[in-house]
Amino acid sequence: MLIHLLALLAATTAVQSQSLASESLVKDVPALPLGLYRHLQSAEAAQRRADESEYAISAPDQIPFLSNPLQKPSSSRFRPHLFDQLVSHDPDVPAPSGSPTFQQRYWFDASHYRKGGPVYLLDAGETDATGRLLFLESGILKILSEATGGIGIVFEHRYYGESFPVKNLTTDSYRFLTTLQSIQDSNYFAENVVLPGLEDVDLHPKKTPWIRYGGSYAGATTALARKLYPEIWWGGLASSAVTTAIVDFWEYYVPIQEHAPKECISQLENHTAAIDSILAVKNSFLTSSLKSYFGLPNVTSDVDFANALTLPLGSWQARNWDPKVGSKTFHRFCEALTANSTSSLDLDLDFLPKWPSNPRKQLAAFSNYATYVKEHIASRCPEGVAQDDCFGTDLYEGDGIEEAPWKSWAYQFCTEWGYFIGAAPKGHPTIVSRLITADYTGQICTKAFPPGELNAVPATPNVTKINQYGSFDLSHPRLAFIDGSADPWIGATPHSPQARKRKDTLRRPFKLIPEGVHHWDENGLLDRSSEPEAIQAIHRDEVEFVQAWLKEWRGRGKWKMDPSRWRKDV
Ligand SMILES: *[C@@H]1O[C@H](CO)[C@@H](O)[C@H](O)[C@H]1NC(C)=O
Ligand SMILES: *[C@@H]1O[C@H](CO)[C@@H](O)[C@H](O)[C@H]1NC(C)=O
Ligand SMILES: *[C@@H]1O[C@H](CO)[C@@H](O)[C@H](O)[C@H]1NC(C)=O
Ligand SMILES: *[C@@H]1O[C@H](CO)[C@@H](O)[C@H](O)[C@H]1NC(C)=O
Ligand SMILES: *[C@@H]1O[C@H](CO)[C@@H](O)[C@H](O)[C@H]1NC(C)=O
Repeated sequence: MLIHLLALLAATTAVQSQSLASESLVKDVPALPLGLYRHLQSAEAAQRRADESEYAISAPDQIPFLSNPLQKPSSSRFRPHLFDQLVSHDPDVPAPSGSPTFQQRYWFDASHYRKGGPVYLLDAGETDATGRLLFLESGILKILSEATGGIGIVFEHRYYGESFPVKNLTTDSYRFLTTLQSIQDSNYFAENVVLPGLEDVDLHPKKTPWIRYGGSYAGATTALARKLYPEIWWGGLASSAVTTAIVDFWEYYVPIQEHAPKECISQLENHTAAIDSILAVKNSFLTSSLKSYFGLPNVTSDVDFANALTLPLGSWQARNWDPKVGSKTFHRFCEALTANSTSSLDLDLDFLPKWPSNPRKQLAAFSNYATYVKEHIASRCPEGVAQDDCFGTDLYEGDGIEEAPWKSWAYQFCTEWGYFIGAAPKGHPTIVSRLITADYTGQICTKAFPPGELNAVPATPNVTKINQYGSFDLSHPRLAFIDGSADPWIGATPHSPQARKRKDTLRRPFKLIPEGVHHWDENGLLDRSSEPEAIQAIHRDEVEFVQAWLKEWRGRGKWKMDPSRWRKDV
């Protein structure tokens, strides 16, 4: 009987697919399978070399805002500039003697600048900033600069891209990587930068309004910057801002369960329950048959197997309203799952607990799922490489700077942010196996970061470092929150169902993009009228409230005589 499963598998030819991008493994899945990540990276690099001239942000299935050092948009007309940044802003963690500064990259566009106009600094967050340059070309920086005669700047975060204050990535070398240090980088930059060609313009925050923008983690740093350093940041736009750090972030999957096609989610929930039931029997023949069915016969650990099944789910977040930058993988995954299956299986699994009522139909659908995983996940492990070396989550080695694309964010979530993604608690339906716990997801913290002499990763992330500044309640005048109702991260933002209700005002804008996913206001089209109505609306709103804030700035002169009013304003 189970042999039929194996036969069915053998009959399915593995199809290579580009649907899984290395970048999507780093943040949006429970545990990083580092081996698979490395294989995907080298495959992507080879692919890019093959179609070097083809490179365009319109690659059909690209994760939006994908960035990695090999994927520079060569077409960008903006050149990187280097700023001498302080290695440390914290006297308790001093820079090594003799190297107090490092070079931090930034890009800017002053083509819309009019005298007295503002500066918009886009914090590129936990990624190579070259992936954000399109926001100068056609996205939020261009939209706001054009509307207000401003300068747009893309600012690379320390420990990402090419902006490193250290020479390697040992645990000790990560001691200068904290959220606060990165915010202070942007402060120091705003107070000291002299933009080439604009040497005669006084851009000091006392003389020029600086407005910060960021999405996701950088949205949170933007909110924190506006709250902690209001004298530097006149305003802030915090998009999909995760202002609440959460260790066990099982809520990641809730918006997917609520907004993805119902039939697809219902099937996934049922399949997940069935898979967990089979694994729970702990019968080695049954377990190995199940893994074989999904094309993953040699993945030794059950939870690593379950983790591999979650990989397509990260593509929900990679969707975008602009089909040119958005991923279609999730849609295809659901289509595959809910398609009419042609295979008829002859299986007797009645002994399993909670087996759904119509086993035939269920199993036919189950075979769709297994086939998808075999063709699109298992197949991404190169031939001749052991599956444990691809899908295992035991080894996190490498101290070179080139490890930054997976390692730097891991360090940040292990120390301050948490966001260990996993199964929902009992009583809630889950679309990932219950074997995937926060403990499993968090293993990378001890495995990748052995204690050093100067620095160690805490036993659990110290989320207080972030949450002490307001968490779901974080609020400040001229600080806007923009979220998407279908964003997996909404549960960590001020639009979380757990957060208090707020009003949306010009001073404290509070916007929700209907069915929006992750910072969907950040990109735009050159022809704005071609954007979907909801995106045109948010861009219009952003221009409107930023203009109101700039009006306040220009009115400041009048209030100088009236300190009480001035204080109220700031
Ligand atoms: C990492 O860099 C530090 C500081 O330059 C150096 O002392 C240390 O030996 C390096 N470690 C490794 C493993 O390269
Ligand atoms: C999932 O299982 C439930 C409960 O047995 C059933 O009502 C539902 O129809 C199943 N969903 C699908 C898509 O088969
Ligand atoms: C699994 O391991 C066996 C024995 O080493 C090997 O023959 C087979 O090719 C492996 N299968 C996969 C899909 O890696
Ligand atoms: C699936 O099968 C049903 C019933 O046989 C049929 O009505 C439906 O059109 C089929 N759907 C697709 C996508 O083939
Ligand atoms: C966590 O961070 C807070 C705020 O910086 C600090 O007061 C507290 O001591 C830290 N907790 C631990 C266990 O280190």
